[in-house]
Amino acid sequence: MFTRRSLLLGTASAAIVAAAGCSSTRNTSNTTSGSASAGGGAGSLIGVAMPTKSLERWNRDGSHLEDLLKTAGYQVSLQYADNKQDQQNNQLQNMINDGAKVLVIASIDGTALGPVLSQAAAKGVKIIAYDRLINGSQNVDYYATFDNYKVGQMQGQFILDNLGKFKNSDGSINLEPFAGSPDDNNAKFFFAGAWDLINPKVTDGTIKVPSGKAPKTDADWTSIGITSWLSSTAQSEMQNRLNSFYAGGKKVNIVLSPNDSLALGIEQALDAAGYKVGTDWPLITGQDADLANTKNMLAGKQAMTVWKDTRKLGDQVAKMVDQILKGTTVDVNDTKTYNNGTKVVPTYLLPPEVVTYDSVKSVLVGSGFYTASQLGL
Ligand code: BGC
Repeated sequence: MFTRRSLLLGTASAAIVAAAGCSSTRNTSNTTSGSASAGGGAGSLIGVAMPTKSLERWNRDGSHLEDLLKTAGYQVSLQYADNKQDQQNNQLQNMINDGAKVLVIASIDGTALGPVLSQAAAKGVKIIAYDRLINGSQNVDYYATFDNYKVGQMQGQFILDNLGKFKNSDGSINLEPFAGSPDDNNAKFFFAGAWDLINPKVTDGTIKVPSGKAPKTDADWTSIGITSWLSSTAQSEMQNRLNSFYAGGKKVNIVLSPNDSLALGIEQALDAAGYKVGTDWPLITGQDADLANTKNMLAGKQAMTVWKDTRKLGDQVAKMVDQILKGTTVDVNDTKTYNNGTKVVPTYLLPPEVVTYDSVKSVLVGSGFYTASQLGL
């Protein structure tokens, strides 16, 4: 049985892949900038490694953190890695060579950073795992994230709360589950949080999964994982399931999508298959409150998203960087849960929040995450 506790022990036994060589050229869209000013450690170089520019949230995360750190007087090297861990390892290597004092890393494959982190540690560089835990290395000093299991629970609970509204005329309910990228440590938490709530209803027959792609246990989640969280892969997977298992007028009523990039592809496949809002459009979950998905929520195409105010994550991490360099106590609020296989990493956990059609305006516009005009409101 795959419990929350066993999940939290992480994937430490997974192989640690050697870091690739250190001769990368910088991506020109990345920046190294900032100037020294006040405060302990002022002027120090901070490396910020983000996974990809292709997904909206990481652009927001990167630029927010860069702004905060520059304002605090640090130099910042912000790099994006095109979802390739080798590329990110090269970037980290360069940051270490350039004298970075702290590396903030949103990894791609959280099991494949060991060698580059050893080099960082040998030079006294401190490591903060950002959003995604880095597994199998002693050299992860802190972790800051949202409660990832809770994200999945919120999606699962939302589905259970709305079962009565999304069903066929004979009362049957067809659900299709999706999971995130198999190399992302967060993805198994999202899936387990949701599946621990939904699976009992699949087992007792209340919910059917016509494609048969219903993992028997949480541990089987990678069988439905979408590599690199690509919308296009989710779209073709949904198209295949609709073509193969929903012939003859059978309808899908609910889609468990772990995040917005997958939800977007799934929504495109449903559009192409002729599903219509107000008649047979299914309940679709998501995460991140990406702009396109927020607009889709307003258009009735996505029932909810789990919003993580990434500005707060950036604020927290900038504070932790400052505390590390000033030698003061570093804020954490969880010193038990996140075992990366070699140690329990001191963590700062932030709470996620459900957003629906009804709360887009009050929560996302009210907090300044979006302006009303960005959303056409
Ligand atoms: C993040 C999600 C994001 C996904 C794809 C996860 O690690 O926690 O917010 O949707 O990666 O980028």
